[in-house]
Amino acid sequence: MKNRKGIILAGGSATRLYPITCAVSKQMLPVYDKPMIFYPLSALMMAGIREVLIISTPIHLDRFKELLGTGENLGMKFEYKVQEKPVGLADAFILGEEFIGDDNVALILGDNMIYGPRIERVLKAANKVEEGGVIFGYQVADPTSYGVVEIDENGNAISIEEKPENPKSDLAVPGIYFYDNDVINIAKNVKPSERGEIEITDVNKAYMEMGKLKVIPLGSGYAWFDTGTPDRLSDASDFVKAIELRQGIQIACLEEYAYNNGWINESKVNQAIEKYKKTEYGKYLQRMLDKKGKQQYTEIFNSELFE
Ligand code: DAU
Repeated sequence: MKNRKGIILAGGSATRLYPITCAVSKQMLPVYDKPMIFYPLSALMMAGIREVLIISTPIHLDRFKELLGTGENLGMKFEYKVQEKPVGLADAFILGEEFIGDDNVALILGDNMIYGPRIERVLKAANKVEEGGVIFGYQVADPTSYGVVEIDENGNAISIEEKPENPKSDLAVPGIYFYDNDVINIAKNVKPSERGEIEITDVNKAYMEMGKLKVIPLGSGYAWFDTGTPDRLSDASDFVKAIELRQGIQIACLEEYAYNNGWINESKVNQAIEKYKKTEYGKYLQRMLDKKGKQQYTEIFNSELFE
């Protein structure tokens, strides 16, 4: 299988969260008990992506380096890159050209979190697609502030628009995208939109026009949050809190994914347990080791019952 690298875009000015973000990066803000960036990072890990480029502003990038380091503690490899100005989401592939090299790539926005039944399988399935692009569709009550995709009965994209006034469907496009290596050239040819940004929606449109854009509609029961406003940030925190306290689990526990992916051994997990020993995060990791990784049951699935 062709290797795929990951990019987390964690820049921008987050003016919709002012004054919270006047001096702090949005993607560092807590979503209940973890920094926001843990959630998108865990999505890439669930997909099986081990090399990740983190892009942020000249002011904030060093804080991410401090938080996440080289990735060695997770058996991963992290690189970092400054984005001087927030010129658009498609800029991630231009800034990331050298990092991506000849590989395929997945982009996730640093303020997006996605969670739900067998999400790991869904992300792994997207990762397996070697040619073209894969995006997701998530039904929302009001799609006007998102990319909106319209699909036919076979799941093929037939139209895609950025923040349409009169949306053609109620399927919003979450900020997680899987592409083949052509995305670098496609991004370079995208012209700035009316709001002056090189839009990811134009990248998706280019794939759609080549007949190479697959859409995975997420059914009901999934949670997708973009945490760009105080209300949505607070909703995401409430969601994580409700699940974690009720089920005694952790969402976006990075060492859990690294361990279950076979990227780190018990001694690395023990280092994290020591570091986080005063928190539920640390206690959860201890329980995971005691149960040899079988902390959650989402991957135990008796398919015969459903035939
Ligand atoms: O959240 C999903 C939506 O994200 C998609 O449905 C839309 O199609 C897509 O355009 C995007 O819409 P937004 O208007 O929400 O994007 P925003 O400009 O807020 O940027 C998303 C995140 O990316 C935000 O946390 C800041 C960061 N960012 C943004 C830009 C434009 C960067 O790091 N660099 C940038 O150049």
